[in-house]
Amino acid sequence: MIGYRMPTRVHIAPGCRARLGEVTAALGLERVVLVIDPGLRATPWPEEIGHFLLGGGVQRQIFDAVEPNPRTTTAVRIAELIAEYDLEGVVALGGGSVLDAAKAAAMLATNEGTPEDFEGPSLYPEPPLPMIAIPTTCGTGSEVTWVSVLSHEESRRKISVKGETMFPDQALVDADLIATLPRDLVAWTGVDTLTHAVEATTCTLANPVSDALAEKAIALLFEYLERAVADVANDAEAREAVMRASTVAGLAFGNADVAGVHCLSESLGGMYDVPHGLANAILLAPVMRHHQAFAERRLAELYGVVRPGDDTRRPASERAERFLERIEDLTRRLEIPPFSSFGIDPGDHPTIAEMAERNGSNGSNPRPMTTASYLEILAELS
Ligand SMILES: [Fe+2]
Repeated sequence: MIGYRMPTRVHIAPGCRARLGEVTAALGLERVVLVIDPGLRATPWPEEIGHFLLGGGVQRQIFDAVEPNPRTTTAVRIAELIAEYDLEGVVALGGGSVLDAAKAAAMLATNEGTPEDFEGPSLYPEPPLPMIAIPTTCGTGSEVTWVSVLSHEESRRKISVKGETMFPDQALVDADLIATLPRDLVAWTGVDTLTHAVEATTCTLANPVSDALAEKAIALLFEYLERAVADVANDAEAREAVMRASTVAGLAFGNADVAGVHCLSESLGGMYDVPHGLANAILLAPVMRHHQAFAERRLAELYGVVRPGDDTRRPASERAERFLERIEDLTRRLEIPPFSSFGIDPGDHPTIAEMAERNGSNGSNPRPMTTASYLEILAELS
C-alpha cells in the first residue's frame, strides 16, 4: 500500500494549452526541447505550441522522431540534444510514447548513463530537468505518473524507469488536442484508460483514493467513449469527458498499480511492437475473466457505477458478470480488432508469458498469475 501523492500541478480545461507561457515562466525556463511524434506533424498543434513558447520568451529545439513503443535509444537521443543545446527543460506534446520518452530524457539529462542503468524505482541519483506534459491522446495518464516505460530493442522487452522526481512538474490537459485524433486511436487509447481504471481498482494496491478516481473514470468512459469515437472532431462534450477520464484514471493507477492486462500487453509491445492501447483493448476482458471470481465484489460494485440502481438485489456474482459483459459489449461496438490481427507466433507464447510474469506489476494481480496463467489466456485468444 502506498500513500496518495500528486506532485504534478495539473491544468485541466479545453484551451488551457494557452497557459504554456505562464507555466514555462513559473519554472524559469528559457530554452527547452519540444518532443513530439511524426503523426503530430500533420496537425496544427506543434506550431501552435511553438508559438506559445516563443510568446513566453522561450527558445525551443524540436525532437520529432518518437516512435510507438519508444526505445531506450530514443530517450538517449533526446538527452543528447538537450546537452548539445544546453537546454533547461522538456516540453512533451503527444501520446504516452512521447510523454514516456520525454520523461526518461529529462532524467538522463542530469544523470550519466542509459535507461537500462536506472531500471526500477528511484535508482537515479540526480533529479530530472523540469518537465511539462501536454497529452494529445485520451489514454496515457503518463502526465500524472512517476513512470516511463521504454522498449529495450536488444532484449525485446519493456523496461520501467521510475522515481518520486519523475512526475512531470506541470501538465496541461486540453481536450481540444484530441479533436484531430484518428477514430481508431480514440477507441484504443480510450480503452487503455478503461484498463487503467479497472486494473487500479481491482489490484492488490487499490486504496480508497485510487478507487474513487477509478470509479469516476469508468463512469465517464461508459457514458462518453462511444460518442467521442463516433465524432471526436465535433463532439466537444464527449471529448472533454474522455480526456478528463484519461487523467483521472492516470491518477488512479499512479496511486495503486496496473496488473495482468498491462503485464501481457507490455510483453507483446516489447516483442511485437503492437500499439499499447490496442493490446490492452483486446486483453482487458479476457484477463478480467481470469480474475472474475477473485475480484467479484469489486466488479459487482463497478456494475453499480455504470448502471446505478440496476439489479442491486441480485447476487454479486451476477452483477460482476454483467459488468464484464458491458466491457465486452463496449469493445465489440468500438470494433476493436481480434487478437489474431497481431500475427503472434504461438511458438513465442512461452516467452511472452514468462516476460509477463516477470513484469513489476505481476504481484498486483487480484488472482495470483504465473507463466501458466498467461499461457492459458494466450491459448484461449489464439
Ligand atoms: Fe496503459
